[in-house]
Amino acid sequence: MRNILTTSTEQAILRLLKKESHSYLSGQALSKTFGISRTAIWKHIKAIKEMGYAIEASPAKGYRLNQKSLPFNAFEITSGLKTSVIGRDLVFYEEADSTNDIARTLASNGAGEGSAVVADSQKKGKGRLGRRWESPAGVNIYTSIVLRPSIMPVFAPQLTLVSAVAVAETISRFLSNGSGYKPEPTVKWPNDILINSKKTAGILTEMNSEMDRINFVVIGIGVNVNMAKKMLPEELRLIATSLKEEAGEEISRIDFIQTLYLNMEKWYKLYLKNGFEPIREAWNSYFKMAGKVVKVQQMDRVIEGVAIGLDNDGMLLLREKNGNIARIISGDVSI
Ligand code: BTN
Repeated sequence: MRNILTTSTEQAILRLLKKESHSYLSGQALSKTFGISRTAIWKHIKAIKEMGYAIEASPAKGYRLNQKSLPFNAFEITSGLKTSVIGRDLVFYEEADSTNDIARTLASNGAGEGSAVVADSQKKGKGRLGRRWESPAGVNIYTSIVLRPSIMPVFAPQLTLVSAVAVAETISRFLSNGSGYKPEPTVKWPNDILINSKKTAGILTEMNSEMDRINFVVIGIGVNVNMAKKMLPEELRLIATSLKEEAGEEISRIDFIQTLYLNMEKWYKLYLKNGFEPIREAWNSYFKMAGKVVKVQQMDRVIEGVAIGLDNDGMLLLREKNGNIARIISGDVSI
C-alpha cells in the first residue's frame, strides 16, 4: 500500500470524492473539473485506491468513496486536525521500529515544538523500564510528540502527568458513546491509563537536556484502541485491554488521534501558562487508588503504604505504616 498522496491532483480528487460521497461522480465530470483526460482520472483513482481508500467504480455511474473505512494515514490525520501546534508537522510510517526513536532523531535535527510521528505498527515498540510495547498493525495508536518547554529539566516528569490527563480525557470521551454502561478511565502513577483496572495506554517520556535547560522532550503515547485481547501475549491478557474490548465498539483511530492531539495541546498550554496545579487537580480526579494500600517497587527497595495522591511537584504521596509520608520519585506501583 502506498503511504502518501503524491500529487496535489490526487489530494484534490480525494477531497471532492469525500465532499460528494453521497453520490457517484462520473469520470467525465471529474475530467472536466480537473482539466485532464478520463484515463488520467482513472490512473489517479487507481493510485488513491492503492493508498487504502475504498472507492466503488461503476462504468455507468462513475466513482464513489466509502467514507466508513478511511485508511489511517498522514493525510487523514492532518485533514481534520484542529490544533495549532501539536501534529501540525507530522510524519507517518506504516511500520517503524519505535516512533520515540524517530522523534528523537527528528528533534536532534531541529524538529519544532509539536512535531509528531505516527506509526501503524512498531517492530521495537518501547515501554518504560526497558519493557516491550506490543504494537500490532491496523488497530492501535503509536505516536510520539516533540516538545520544547522552557522549564527546568527536573520538572520534565510533570509532562508525563500532563500527557496522562490528556490521554485519560480522550479515552473517556470515546467510551461515552456506548449504550448505557460507561466505564471510566483511571490513572496509575506515573504513566498508565487503565480501564476496569486493566492497562489500556502508556506514556514513555524521554528527554535530551543540559544541566539547567531542556533541549527537547519526546512524549511517546501508545493506546490500545481496537486491539482484540487475543492479539496480546497470553501473560498480558489479564492485565491489559483495549478500548474496543471494554466499550464493545470499534473506534475511529483518526478521530481518536485528532482528539488526543487537541487535548494534549490544551493541557500542555495550560501547564505552561498556569503551572502544575491544574494538572495535579485533573490527574487526581482520575486517580482511584487513593486510600488503597499500594506497593512501590524501586530499584533497590519496596515501599508499602496508603496512596494519597500527587503532591505539588507531581510525586506520588504514600502514608507508610509508621505514619511517615513518603514522596515517591520513581518506581512501579501495584495494589
Ligand atoms: C509504558 O507504559 O511502559 C510506556 C509505553 C509507551 C508506548 C509508546 S507507543 C509510541 C511510542 N513509541 C515507543 O516505542 N513507545 C511509545
